[in-house]
Amino acid sequence: MSAKIIDGKQVAADIREELTKEISELRERGIIPGLGVILVGADPASQSYVSAKERACENMGIFSDDNRLPTETTQKELLALVDKMNHDPKINGILVQLPLPKHIDEAAVLLAIDPDKDVDGFHPMSVGKMMVGEDTFLPCTPHGIVQLLSRSGVETSGAHVVVVGRSNIVGKPVANMLLQKKKGANATVTLCHTRTKDVGYFTRQADIIIAASGWPNTITADMVKEGVVVIDVGVNRVEDASRERGYRLVGDVDFDAVKEKAAMITPVPGGVGPMTITMLLFNTVESARRANKV
Ligand code: GUN
Repeated sequence: MSAKIIDGKQVAADIREELTKEISELRERGIIPGLGVILVGADPASQSYVSAKERACENMGIFSDDNRLPTETTQKELLALVDKMNHDPKINGILVQLPLPKHIDEAAVLLAIDPDKDVDGFHPMSVGKMMVGEDTFLPCTPHGIVQLLSRSGVETSGAHVVVVGRSNIVGKPVANMLLQKKKGANATVTLCHTRTKDVGYFTRQADIIIAASGWPNTITADMVKEGVVVIDVGVNRVEDASRERGYRLVGDVDFDAVKEKAAMITPVPGGVGPMTITMLLFNTVESARRANKV
């Protein structure tokens, strides 16, 4: 059996269509949602993410204030820009692209963002609210994963979800979101990481696997059971001389082999990726709504 491919581009397009209606209603009331974007340094992957975010804002009628700062930017200068955006009524959401250069204390920067504009959901206040199940901005990639599952008709209630990877951006929050006592969640969650003794022991028991390790081939066919649903969060560059740019993108899952056992699987690219930016737009629109009490 070959798996059904979960089409992230299509699900993202459906959500963007819903958002387009909401944005035009807001604009009719004179409200233009605004996103402040800050990128420090010249990491090529971060540059392409940020450009994609800016393009998405432009296409959707969201104002975006783009700030590309040199690697040498000091923490003080970055904090001053965040503070300016905190007080700018045109800005509803602030996004500081991670990772930041080593000389900048990431935690201090995330803490400086006004939680009411924390559309990335990385401020400790947002993380805490998410953990206790209160309404808050949910981090974009995990929120996108939950949307992909529910909009693809995957039942999470009572399912055993095995998350592989414990990053603050994906692994920890998605595990937390799926164990909440809420519609679209209610899963039994296992979180595996680099010190897990036998990842396959856990993934073979999984009804749903969320692979977010950051390494190609973390999940191979012998590590999954028949009928599993696989969400691949990885975006890894592997050398490929046959491509003009010299590399191709692969996920964390051995896609070709695992798709023969899985019931559903996300491709890379075209799976989780398009959802991340879409959920950022979703949070920015939600923030504009809250700020204007509509
Ligand atoms: N770096 C990788 N993913 C993300 C994300 O979702 N938000 C931010 N700010 N940085 C990231």
